[in-house]
Parts: sequence; structure tokens; C-alpha cells
Amino acid sequence: MNILVVGGGGREHAICMSVSKSKKADKIYCAPGNAGIASVAECVPIGAMEFDKLVDFAKNNSIDFCIVGMDDPLVGGLVDLMEEAGIRTFGPKKNAAILEGSKAFAKDLMKKYNIPTAAYENFDSYDEAIEYIKKSKFPIVLKADGLALGKGVLICNTVDEAIEGAREIMLDKKFGESGNRMVVEEFMTGREVSVLSFVDGKTIRIMTSAQDHKRAGDGDTGLNTGGMGTFSPSPFYTDEVDDYCKKYIYQATVDAMRSENREFKGIIFFGLMITENGPRVLEYNARFGDPEAQVVLPRMKNDILEVMEACVDGKLDDITLEFEDNAAVCVVLASDGYPVAYEKGKIIKGFEAFDNKSDYFCFHAGTKFDDDGNIVTNGGRVLGITAKGDTLKEARTNAYRATEWIDFDNKYMRHDIGKAIDEA
Ligand code: AMP
Ligand code: GLY
Repeated sequence: MNILVVGGGGREHAICMSVSKSKKADKIYCAPGNAGIASVAECVPIGAMEFDKLVDFAKNNSIDFCIVGMDDPLVGGLVDLMEEAGIRTFGPKKNAAILEGSKAFAKDLMKKYNIPTAAYENFDSYDEAIEYIKKSKFPIVLKADGLALGKGVLICNTVDEAIEGAREIMLDKKFGESGNRMVVEEFMTGREVSVLSFVDGKTIRIMTSAQDHKRAGDGDTGLNTGGMGTFSPSPFYTDEVDDYCKKYIYQATVDAMRSENREFKGIIFFGLMITENGPRVLEYNARFGDPEAQVVLPRMKNDILEVMEACVDGKLDDITLEFEDNAAVCVVLASDGYPVAYEKGKIIKGFEAFDNKSDYFCFHAGTKFDDDGNIVTNGGRVLGITAKGDTLKEARTNAYRATEWIDFDNKYMRHDIGKAIDEA
């Protein structure tokens, strides 16, 4: 099959690498891709939101199967357009991608179908939100309804902070139209776990667990980012947690979407908080996590295209997912200053150290070729350095060792990715 992957970050690099190992893959394209993806796929200079151009490209290049990796094109309806053009496409249609695209929708769905989550209220009016906030217990969590690059969530410790936060979201429109509605949610405490799953509309298959580190600085300080590092599996995802989620969360979510005539095919990413009272859904995403994909996919034994085709065809029932009995850790190398302001265009050196090492992966996120053919930094998150090991601790040691093989100006990373492993 000829494949088109849509996106250009570390997640899409991990997807392209898995696709390149499939016996079903012939030619692989990635739009727009990046300098690392170029080593496993042909990069096409079309942006992920240029829907007409993507559909034309797919038609003109005999694409048999399209994989949409990113949230924006999913929420915007790219899957619908591809399928209307006769291109089989992996990912939820627009009416199902709303599971990620609107936090207010997701919360109402969970309430209606008794899926465990934090107590909340949705607001279209700033004044009504403020009234509610003034009567609330603190801390409290404010969430812009729509997509906000993982940054539209504010945890507020006092009334004043919450009033200021509501103003930023709903009046100043710091996250754009995403702030037309706002969810105000109870603050929960506990361990966070990311669980990715394949879904074919009715059947769900859970992948191995992972944990992200969302804050920019060591010790979970600083601003929220897209994710500074991950490990998999999570030692906190116990059999007991798994049983609970299977009983009350996973299949319940798939069934709820079907009942609403929003059949979901693709990836559901469950962002879970394991609280004292059991697991609760923090958020849903409609795609692989980034950088969760960079620790989960390298451990998956299945042929990814077989699994994705089964999702599209409604035949996931026939598939058993298999993961290696080991561990992986990913440390993100970012540009100093991320997620606020940072320089680009710095030459990156050291890639050759990863050659011929099957347990080490250098996933590219924000990289490109400059006019002289050098690979240079081109974003906040630059690379995701993943290593496997027999145990989480070994994987962590290996990943940090490999971060030293790479060099560029303003290289920044967290030094405590996977520290939680020591507390397990
Ligand atoms: P979300 O995008 O909804 O996953 O939120 C981003 C991050 O904010 C999560 O990973 C949590 O660390 C935190 N967060 C979100 N909702 C809550 C909540 N109700 N209680 C505590 N922390 C939360
Ligand atoms: N790493 C979290 C996310 O992809 O949303």
C-alpha cells in the first residue's frame, strides 16, 4: 500500500517508523514531515491544515491509506474529506474528533454516561463563570473548551487567580476562539497515566500505559508544555486500575460515542488521574500522544498497518495487541526558552551515534534542513531521545546517556524524566 501520514512532529516520526516496518507498506509519504522523517518517508511540503492540497496529493499519488496524526486536522474534518474522495483514512471523523475538540462536549458525555471524571460546570458567559468561581472551593481548574496546544488549562489557587484566569480565557481570548466556552472543574490529586487505545467504532484495544511530564522544568515546575518526556509502562497502572478502567471507562466511552451517533474510529487517548477514589478521566485526545507515541510504538510487536486497517474496517475484534516485555523512556531535547520564546536555526550534531543501535531512537520533532543541507532546530521541542531497557531504570539510564550524543546551541532538557519510577 502507498501511505500518506499527515503531521510533522515526533509522534509522526514514530508513526512513520512503525509504518516503515510493516510488510504492507510500499511508498510512504509524510506531509509536511521533518528532517528526521525524511529518512523513513518522502516528505511533501503541504501543511496539515491544507486540506484541498492534501486530498489532491492523495488522489494524484495513488495513496491507498492515509493516517492523520495530529489533532487540528482531525477536529477540522480531514478524515471526512479524504473518505469522500475515496481514500481510506485512519482517524476519527469530525463528529467524533469532537471528543478532543471540545472539553465541554467530553465532560457532558461523561456525565450523561456515568464515566468517572471530576465534577464541573460549563460556561458560555464570563459573568456566570465568575459567580460560580466565587462560590467554589480552591484550587480550581479552568479549561478553554477548544484546542489550545495543550496549554488551555489553568490551575488556580485563589479566587483572584481564577477571576484573572477566566478573564484571560473568555475575554482576552488568550487561546482564541477556544475560549468562547470554558469548563470550570474540581481539582483532583493523584498519579497521572496516559493510556492509548485503538478503536474501530465498537471494539477497543488498549495499548501499554505511559506517563508524560507536561511541565517545562525539573520537579514539575514552570509552564505546561506539549510534553517534556515520557516513560512506558507506568508502574502505577496496576491490574486493579486496569480492571476499574475496563469496567467503567474504556468500553463505556466507545459505547457512549456510538449511542450519540458519533462512531469513533482511530486512537482514543485517555488522560487518567488515579485518585484516592479510583481512576478519573482528566481528558480525552483523539490521536496518539506526543511524546507518548515515542515510548509506546517502539514496544509494539504488531504490524501497525494491520491494526489500523482493522480499525477502519470495523474488524479490531480479530486483533490481539502485543507489546514487548521491557520498558522505554523518552527525553525531549528542546530549545531553551520553550514554551515561550526560543531561537531556531541552530545546527544539530551527533545523529550518527544512533546508527545501527536497535534499542535507541532519535525522533525528530522541530527540525529541518537548511540551505546547506545541515539539520537545524526548527521548533520548541526539537528531538525525542528514546531508549529501551529491560527495566524502567535501565531504559532511563540509556535514554539520558543518549541525550549526550546530541549537541546543539541552547539545548534544554528536564533531568528528572522517570524519577517517579523510584517511588513505585
Ligand atoms: P488536560 O489538557 O485536560 O489534560 O490538562 C492538562 C494538565 O492539567 C493535566 O495533565 C493535569 O496535570 C492538569 N489537570 C487537568 N485537569 C485537572 C484536574 N481536574 N485536577 C488536577 N489537575 C488537572
Ligand atoms: N503528551 C500529551 C499529549 O499529546 O497531549
